[in-house]
Amino acid sequence: MKNITGNIYYAGAQTDGTFLFENQYEIPNGVTYNSYVIMDEKVAVLDTADEKVTGEWLAGVREVLSGRKPDYLVVSHMEPDHAANIGTFLREFPEAVVVANQKTFDILSCYFDTDVSERRVIVKEGETLPLGEHTLQFFMAPMVHWPEVMVSYEQKEGILFSADAFGNFGKTDDIFLAAGQEEAWQQDAARYFLNIVGKYGKPVQQLLKKASGFDIRMICPLHGPILRENLGYFLEKYGIWSSYRADKKGVLVLSASIYGNTDKAAAYLAECIRKEGVPAQHLMLAGADLSYAVCEAFRHEAVVFAGVTYDGGLFPCMANLLYRLASKNFQNRKVGLMENGSWGPVAAGKMKAELEKLAGIEFTEPVVTIRGKMQEADRANVEALAAAMAAAVK
Ligand code: FEO
Repeated sequence: MKNITGNIYYAGAQTDGTFLFENQYEIPNGVTYNSYVIMDEKVAVLDTADEKVTGEWLAGVREVLSGRKPDYLVVSHMEPDHAANIGTFLREFPEAVVVANQKTFDILSCYFDTDVSERRVIVKEGETLPLGEHTLQFFMAPMVHWPEVMVSYEQKEGILFSADAFGNFGKTDDIFLAAGQEEAWQQDAARYFLNIVGKYGKPVQQLLKKASGFDIRMICPLHGPILRENLGYFLEKYGIWSSYRADKKGVLVLSASIYGNTDKAAAYLAECIRKEGVPAQHLMLAGADLSYAVCEAFRHEAVVFAGVTYDGGLFPCMANLLYRLASKNFQNRKVGLMENGSWGPVAAGKMKAELEKLAGIEFTEPVVTIRGKMQEADRANVEALAAAMAAAVK
């Protein structure tokens, strides 16, 4: 049994990374589905877990309950990675009622046939649920990540049960993030946030504004470790990421290559940018999970897209990346373009047409065109783009 503080317990479960999260994102270190239990005069369980971990989650809840019957199931978020076991919970604990907002109950009926009309408490912004020594206060957080999302603030201990916000990929032996592990946390937390919640920057900012009024001593998210030290670090990261600002210096070079020639030219470009005294990171897209590139594009001050022409258009992984960036509200970046095409290069024009639809994109010249393999004569152009990109972020 994992105690968080006083009589508040962790009852989550975890899986390894043998599947894709949301059926699309690699999770090489697995993921946790967090659920919490407050054992007071009244007993509240906060959220269930994904159906992949039903057995482990239910065993954890039963262990904490030690024979007591829960009074409430608080539902923060209806996405099935947290809500899949609401039906299981209601069958296992027939005396318990569901505590949620009206929108949650609307969405609940999309997933469950169970009639909860006699087993529910509908809560609104700022309302409280007294449990004894503990009191939960509810705040709506629409579109962090779905419209029904709400967070709960436990007044006695100063715990923010933050739903998807401040979540992370990765299994964890310790339910708490260890002191001094902020840098390790931010790697996957950024990929999680920018790919999953990142589109909803303004709602996240509204939640951060609300949260600034609470005395938060601990953050309990629905995925990843509990945060209880140096909370300013995590709040600052969310402030940056949700406002689409860069938190990494320098230029990201993204290349999509069929036979490796565009990748080699892109690697040379990155090397030239570094020679200008500016950090440069090169990522190859072909065959990769694009969530890493989406994450790094948001985190860098400037991005070069090196794409190859394919079927008179763009090689699909670059087209796919641009689609994803647009759908996540990529904006306000300095951008450079490099294209490849042996007999009819059109990739730069295609990439520019997609990127110029986005807010605040500034293109840097020159556009580099490679025909097949980078030739000696191409180096001057590549070096000119490197100098321009370096100057754009200095
Ligand atoms: Fe972890 Fe939006 O669910």
